[in-house]
Formats: sequence, C-alpha cells, structure tokens
Amino acid sequence: MKVGIDKLHFATSHLYVDMAELAVARQAEPDKYLIGIGQSKMAVIPPSQDAVTLAANAAAPMLTAEDIAAIDLVVVGTESGIDNSKASAIYVAELLGLNRRVRTIEMKEACYAATAGIQLAQDHIRIHPDKKALVIGSDVARYGLNTPGEPTQGGGAVAMLISADPQVLALGTTTSLLSADVMDFWRPLYHTEALVDGKYSSNIYIDYFQDVFKDYLKTTHTRPETMTALVFHLPYTKMGLKALRSALPLVDDDQQKRWLAHFEHARQLNRQVGNLYTGSLYLSLLSQLLTDPQLQPGDQLGLFSYGSGAEGEFYTGELQPDYQLGLDAGLPQRLARRRRVSVAEYETLFNQQLQWQAEDQVVSVADDPHRFVLTGQKAEQRQYLDREA
Ligand code: CAA
Repeated sequence: MKVGIDKLHFATSHLYVDMAELAVARQAEPDKYLIGIGQSKMAVIPPSQDAVTLAANAAAPMLTAEDIAAIDLVVVGTESGIDNSKASAIYVAELLGLNRRVRTIEMKEACYAATAGIQLAQDHIRIHPDKKALVIGSDVARYGLNTPGEPTQGGGAVAMLISADPQVLALGTTTSLLSADVMDFWRPLYHTEALVDGKYSSNIYIDYFQDVFKDYLKTTHTRPETMTALVFHLPYTKMGLKALRSALPLVDDDQQKRWLAHFEHARQLNRQVGNLYTGSLYLSLLSQLLTDPQLQPGDQLGLFSYGSGAEGEFYTGELQPDYQLGLDAGLPQRLARRRRVSVAEYETLFNQQLQWQAEDQVVSVADDPHRFVLTGQKAEQRQYLDREA
C-alpha cells in the first residue's frame, strides 16, 4: 500500500522586507544577504499571526469536507509554541472545525519535528488506511534585530495531508536517523529569541547530512544517481547548497549538473520567505514541485530533515502521476502580491509581538487579510478569530 503526502499547502504573512534594503540598514553588502546567505525577501510576521493562526491558515484552504471527516490525527511540529502545556494542535483542530474524535498533539525537536509528525502519521495510516492525518510545521523564526542570525529569520506554516494512495508523494518506509546532544541552537524558556552558535550549527548540519545520506545509501543499497533531486531543510538557501555540494563527489558530472539545476527550483520560494524552522524542508519540497519543469511522475526525491540540538533524518518519496493536483498552485502569485515594508516598519512589528505577561492585551488585526488572526489575550487566554465563522 502506498502512503504519503496527498496535499501540501503553505501560509505566511502578507508582509516582507527586502533583503538588499535590510543589508544596507545593517551596513552589510547586499550580495552578502542575496548570494552569501541566499535570501531575497524575508517574511515579516505581524503580531496578529502566531504558530496557531499560521497553521490554520495553511491547512484550511486545502481541506475538503471529506478530508475533515477522515482526519483522526493532527500533529503540529513547532518550536514557537504558545503554551508549555496545551498543544497548539488543539487550537488548530478547533479553528478548522475538525471532528472531535481526533488525536491532537504538538511535537518539538527544533526544525525536525514536522518530519517526526510525518513518520508518525505514515505509521498510523498504514494501520488505518481509511483515515487521514494532518501534519503541520508552523513557526516564526526570530533571532533578534541586529544579530548575525537576523537575515535568516522568516516564518510560515506548511500543512500536509497524509493518506493512503497519496496524490503527491508516496513515502519510503526506510529512513536513516541520527540524534545526539549538540548545543548548536536552542531557546531556553526565558528567551523569546533563539540562541545560536551560527557557524557551528552550519557545520553540524553538513555533518548530519553526510552521515544520514551515506547511511541511507549503504543500508538500502541505493545508488545516489537514482535520486532525481535532493531536497533540504533550508534555514537559509545557501545552507542547502553547501550540503548539496558536499554530496556532488558521489556522482558523475552530468548528475552533478542535474542536481544543481533541480536545487535552484527547490530554493526558489524559500528565497522569498526565509526560515520557517519546522516547515522549511516542506516549503522547499513545494517549491521543487511547483517550479521544476524537469520533474516526472516516478521520480525519486531524497529529503533531508535537520533539527538543531541535534537530529537528522534522510528519507525518500516517489512522485505520483497527479502530483500537481495536490499542490498549493496559487502560492507563487500570493507571494508576489505581498506588501513590502520598510526596515523601520519591520523593526516596529518585530517589537510588537504579544508579550509573555498575564495582563490583557489587544492586537490590531485591521491590516491582516488572513482568515485566522490573533486578536489578543484576555484572562490569560489567547483570543483567536475565524473571520468566516
Ligand atoms: N558577496 C557574496 N557573498 C558574501 C559577501 C558578498 N559581498 N559577503 C559575505 N559573503 C558570504 C560569506 O563568504 C559567507 O559564505 P560561506 O558561508 O559560503 O562562507 C556568507 O556570505 C555568510 O557570511 P558570514 O559567514 O560572514 O555570515 P555571518 O557570520 O554574518 O552569519 C550565519 C551567517 C552563521 C548563517 C548566521 O546568519 C546565523 O547564525 N544564522 C542562524 C543559524 C543557522 O541558520 N544555522 C543553520 C544550521 S542550523 C539549522 O538548520 C536549524 C535552523 O533552522 C536554525
């Protein structure tokens, strides 16, 4: 039985900051951000969006009444959780009007957690093929203003419906895993922004990729050239390029050229959004599938998931005949329609996030066009609004 990704949809903010403009404001050369980091635009997440609303906005447009009736598992992978106890998946399931006979959980392991959700969902559907699972990676990537990590911020959510006989990608059942205690990136409970050892984290990422990729090839007796394209977690798009370059010696010149050409499609949309932590690999997958004219049904895609701390996983999927039908086809146009904000406006919005304090707070939602918005906090409870309810 084939099990895998049946639908794939993305949501981010309607606002972005231009990376060349940000570079000038930070006294950096624009090409450092545009080429050295590999980012052109960065999503600016307003205070009216958080991991819950981004997740609901990503999932709602792709779900039919039939999907809603069949979903009995919702996993939200996030490291931007809004509660230390209650799962964001419960808020999301309620906003989406899902059946209440559903298992709702939040998963955490930095940027890796959505992959853990997919593997859990895959196992679940293999036992219950008449059911469907909703897996969402949703995050707001924050390092702080004027920090080295600042040009690698961003945010958004990727929602994936996991089912039997999937439209998009049939997942393999063999994966390669690596997990060990590494302090490359972390966020203690008292911090609103991540702590990171940037260069170290980039080196660990490459080490983990090389380890799980080679382990996968060895344990499955797979030749690397049987993979049409390699898709990466993209904290910034140059990171994936560096990892890909480290794998090039394994294949001949023609395959190297093909992998590099495919990678340009895989990073096209991430380049316009920035990091979204748990969702980044899956936005890259969406970018690959939406923008790459060279892909064919039957192609094997290799996926590398990485979460600092650290955990890596390499697994594969086979492209299905009608894969285009399960994709968020309107995404490139939506990204093109976003409003550009100045660096000053981005800084103001960055500092206006809902405060971690007990007092009631009100968030202005007038400028936010999304269906699901965060309107504030009352009696220590976040207030969410569904504008279509
Ligand atoms: N033209 C072209 N390229 C230029 C340039 C110019 N004018 N000026 C500089 N560059 C290049 C540099 O040569 C460098 O390229 P290489 O990495 O290929 O050597 C690149 O631009 C970046 O320059 P620096 O290394 O000087 O940049 P930096 O020290 O300011 O910080 C960073 C870069 C470490 C990635 C930092 O942004 C950071 O800490 N980011 C957050 C951490 C991160 O994303 N880590 C990734 C792995 S961890 C992970 O994947 C989990 C996760 O999501 C967080």
